[in-house]
Amino acid sequence: MRRRESNNRSSNSGISTMSHHTRFQDADEIIEDAAVSSNHDDSMCELDGAVDKAVEGSAPEPSMVFTGSHDKTSADYYFDSYSHFGIHEEMLKDTVRTKTYQNVIYQNKFLFKNKVVLDVGAGTGILSLFCAKAGAEHVYAVECSDMADMAKEIVETNGYSNVITVLKGKIEEIELPLAKVDIIISEWMGYFLLFENMLNTVLYARDKWLVDDGVVLPDKASLFLTAIEDADYKEDKIEFWNNVYGFDMNCIKKQAIMEPLVDTVDKNQIVTNCHLLKTMDISKMVPGDASFTAPFKLVAERDDYIHALVAYFDVSFTRCHKLMGFSTGPRSRATHWKQTVLYLEDVLTICEGEAIVGSMTVAQNKKNPRDVDIMLKYSLNGQRCVVSRVQYYKMR
Ligand SMILES: C[S@@+](CC[C@H](N)C(=O)[O-])C[C@H]1O[C@@H](n2cnc3c(N)ncnc32)[C@H](O)[C@@H]1O
Repeated sequence: MRRRESNNRSSNSGISTMSHHTRFQDADEIIEDAAVSSNHDDSMCELDGAVDKAVEGSAPEPSMVFTGSHDKTSADYYFDSYSHFGIHEEMLKDTVRTKTYQNVIYQNKFLFKNKVVLDVGAGTGILSLFCAKAGAEHVYAVECSDMADMAKEIVETNGYSNVITVLKGKIEEIELPLAKVDIIISEWMGYFLLFENMLNTVLYARDKWLVDDGVVLPDKASLFLTAIEDADYKEDKIEFWNNVYGFDMNCIKKQAIMEPLVDTVDKNQIVTNCHLLKTMDISKMVPGDASFTAPFKLVAERDDYIHALVAYFDVSFTRCHKLMGFSTGPRSRATHWKQTVLYLEDVLTICEGEAIVGSMTVAQNKKNPRDVDIMLKYSLNGQRCVVSRVQYYKMR
């Protein structure tokens, strides 16, 4: 999965609405010849091994090659998606995200006055520009993709070359022309908070360059879990593979259910409370804290079916005059992070007051540290449904 790509429920079906002049037989006129039964057992697997095995079976990404005057091929963009302006456009237009950072900086100028700032993963340089405008003494904007060249030009065009220095390179490899900075600012959050693992880059920068009483912005991130009714979409995305034009494609269903889906969830689908799984203190945590096991208890607020658990995160800036931040939850204004949907193998029938209890284990994938492995253990001991299961997922 490429980060921050748009993949709405309504738009990812790939069905064209274009009309054609030729009159073909309507799709609905084709009569199905047989129904396929789907009584295969879904086998359990180990967190690392089976997840990777499933991935190995998948087809490689086709790479389209342009010849001629183009500077970059799609393969270049695949490996370096932040070089393309499109991904930055999507982030900048996420006003929940960008305006929160702007408000944090402009409304808390006392934090920045005469301070040296390090912007970790500066992209277009937007956060550095906010900091410079708020009165920072100097800002070092570090960006590893080719967008650094644009950031340099943007800084010059806007007359901030004397305050902002753009450094092109990886945080882990660049040299800063000074020993310490007062503030580290970064927008590092991935889908499911931890996908892409940029948090480790921020922690690396903090440990190397931040003064002892320095400020990290944002400094708190919390991961939440809730449960939803999602019959229609589970049918469309998962059960679909049971019978594809009369053929059993259950082997793909097993892969599909292991891939968390990044999508927006309607707040009316929420059946239980929202449980705080984990809060990370970015100013104090160590990289290992991003891998954890956390228990949860989701209590039904009405009688309903449950098809999936949904994860989302909040971030906060606790060093401001007043607490500031934003939520990516289904009850808040939508962001480009949407929510992360983990489909359950079982459909749970739950009555008001009953609880799904379990734990979620989150870990960096050993082969590819940018991927996230998730193990979900859950059980329900209800009037209408008794179930206990372990499921494995991989964000990739
Ligand atoms: C989520 S974007 C945020 C961009 C910008 N700060 C903003 O708020 O619009 C993260 C940026 O960090 C850069 N990045 C990721 N890892 C990095 C690293 N190790 N060193 C330097 N830049 C990195 C990416 O290329 C990307 O442009």
